[in-house]
This record gives sequence, structure tokens and C-alpha cells, in this order.
Amino acid sequence: MPVPEISADADQQETLNRAVQEVARLLRGARNNALDTEALAATLGTDALTIERLGQVMERNGLVDLIYPSNVLAKTQLKLVSRDEYSDRARTGIPGLDEQVEGGFERRSVVLVTGDSGSGKTTFCLQFLVNGAEKYGEPGIYITFEEKKEDVFRRTKRFGWDLEKLERENKLLVMEYPPHEIERFISEGQIIEDTIHDMGAKRIVIDSVTSLALVYDSEYKRRQGVLKTLETLKKWGCTALLTSESRLTAEGEVKARFGMSYLVDGVIYLYNMRRGDRRVRAFEILKLRGISHSMALCPLAIENHGVVLYPNQPVFGDFGAGGQKGF
Ligand SMILES: Nc1ncnc2c1ncn2[C@@H]1O[C@H](COP(=O)(O)OP(=O)(O)O)[C@@H](O)[C@H]1O
Ligand SMILES: [Mg+2]
Repeated sequence: MPVPEISADADQQETLNRAVQEVARLLRGARNNALDTEALAATLGTDALTIERLGQVMERNGLVDLIYPSNVLAKTQLKLVSRDEYSDRARTGIPGLDEQVEGGFERRSVVLVTGDSGSGKTTFCLQFLVNGAEKYGEPGIYITFEEKKEDVFRRTKRFGWDLEKLERENKLLVMEYPPHEIERFISEGQIIEDTIHDMGAKRIVIDSVTSLALVYDSEYKRRQGVLKTLETLKKWGCTALLTSESRLTAEGEVKARFGMSYLVDGVIYLYNMRRGDRRVRAFEILKLRGISHSMALCPLAIENHGVVLYPNQPVFGDFGAGGQKGF
């Protein structure tokens, strides 16, 4: 049986060496691709590893976490993550964001990224997935009802993101469902669930719920359909971002359709406002589980390498109305 590749920081080398030897030994005696995680944990001198199926994060409370991103043994890679790096937060890696939300989004939470058309929702979500795959060892799935796969690849190349390579490495999967195939998406729940397990996906994006809901012919069915999708997402256990288009009321309340803002764990609003002869982009957290107070509006820019937030800077600096909401 092939031994998985294992990577770790230099200062974890000793643990790593022992892990390689121990995994090799255990795999020789492994049945049904299952590792005796308790034995492995004991040998490594850590607390018990809790997950016995390949393709899952093996979680424990000690010094290292072992992650299998694939259930195909030959392709399996183990990664040692130090305790400091491990947390219950899924880091976004979006400049200016994580430090304001206690490290990232809560794992397994569902966050709605809503707002104006052209405000950067798609870019924001793809960046969350690319960073997960490239920097944080968290494979992800991007489900789009809005664009062709090759258009997604093309638009992200401009930011220096190589989604095709990440797909080849089994770290990212772009699934495209044109409008007439959305029903196929709904009926394919099990296939997506299997894909999540096979890839060891930890992050998922659905872009957009607005398009998904259009497949239903009545408001009642749309609401039921969206509810069902949210339930399914919760069951899958990934950290999920959903996009939708919405407007704010004059009071600054988000009018997310289908009663979604009450059902999700977080709501982020992205603005693309016209002010005089230019457009102003901004970012606001309207609600986020685990964060006690909402963040002030802050400028958002789409730059060469993607979305960047500028916390503590006024959005309407040139207009002398910094931080005001009553637009
Ligand atoms: N490579 C890029 N460099 C700079 N700006 C870009 C780039 N790609 C897209 N944009 C800007 O991002 C906007 C759209 O972002 P997008 O994420 O598609 O928004 P949304 O999903 O909210 O409609 C475009 O209007 C364009 O101004
Ligand atoms: Mg979009």
C-alpha cells in the first residue's frame, strides 16, 4: 500500500518523522482504508485522533492535526498543522478581514454574501476558496449558476489565481450549472456530498442563491427550495458562502429574499454605489455568529490580486461623510 506524502514545518520535523513511520506501519495493517487513529495518536504522543475514514480531517486537541484531502490513498497528503494554526475559524486570507472577525469565519457556518450587482461578491467568494486551497490546506467546491467554467477560469487568471491547477491537484472543483440544469443540481445532492468526501472539501460556495431560486415558479416553492439548500449545506458540514443580490432599505436593513438573513449564520453586504461621477465600493458585516458587534462600513477595493479591505478608513472620504450610512 502506498504511503501518503506528509508535509510539515521544519520545527515539526521530529513529529513528522515519527508520523511517517507510524502511518506506514499502520497502513500495512489497515483494513478498508481505515487507520487505527488511536494507535497513531498514542505513538505520536498526542490525544486521540477522532476520524477513522480517509478524506476527512483528523481532529484532536494536541500538537498536530493530520489532514487527508483525498480518500485515494496514493494521492493522500498528510499535513501537520501546529496548535497555533488550528482554530475553529476558517481564515479567509482576504487582506483586512480576518483580523476583524477573530481569525475568520466560524467553521461549518453559512454566510450570505449579498449586495449590489458588480460589487465583488463572486471575486470575494472565489478568493475565500483559492486561499483555503493554497494557504490553509482546505479544499473547496465552487458551484456556479451564473458563469461558464472557462469564464471563471479566465476571470480569475487576471488575479494570478490558477484554478485549473488547483483542480488538477484536487484542491478545488468548479461545478457549473447553467439555468436549465439547476434542477439537476438539486437532484444531485448525493453526488456533491460524495465529492465533498472524496476531495475532503472544507469550503463550499454557491453563486448565486438568486439564480437557484429562479428555477421555482412560485414564491412559496422558492422559499422551500432555499430552505432545503440551507439544510443540505448544514448537513455537508463545510464552511459555506452563498451569494445573492439584494438592496438595502432606507434604514440600512438588508432585504434578503426568502427570509434568508434569519436562517444563515452571517450576512455580509458588499456595496457598489454611485457617488457623483464615480462608483464607491464598500464592505459591511450586518451579522456574524461569534462576533458580538457589527463592523463599521469600510472601503473595499478590487486590486491586482483580488479583494482588499481597508478597515478604519472612511468610505466617503472625498464626500466628507465618512462611515455614514444614510445614503
Ligand atoms: N481582474 C480584475 N481587476 C480589477 N477589477 C476587476 C477584475 N475582475 C473584475 N473586476 C471588477 O469586479 C467587478 C465585478 O466583480 P464580481 O465579483 O463579478 O461582482 P458580483 O459578483 O458582485 O457581481 C467588475 O465590475 C470589475 O469592476
Ligand atoms: Mg457574481
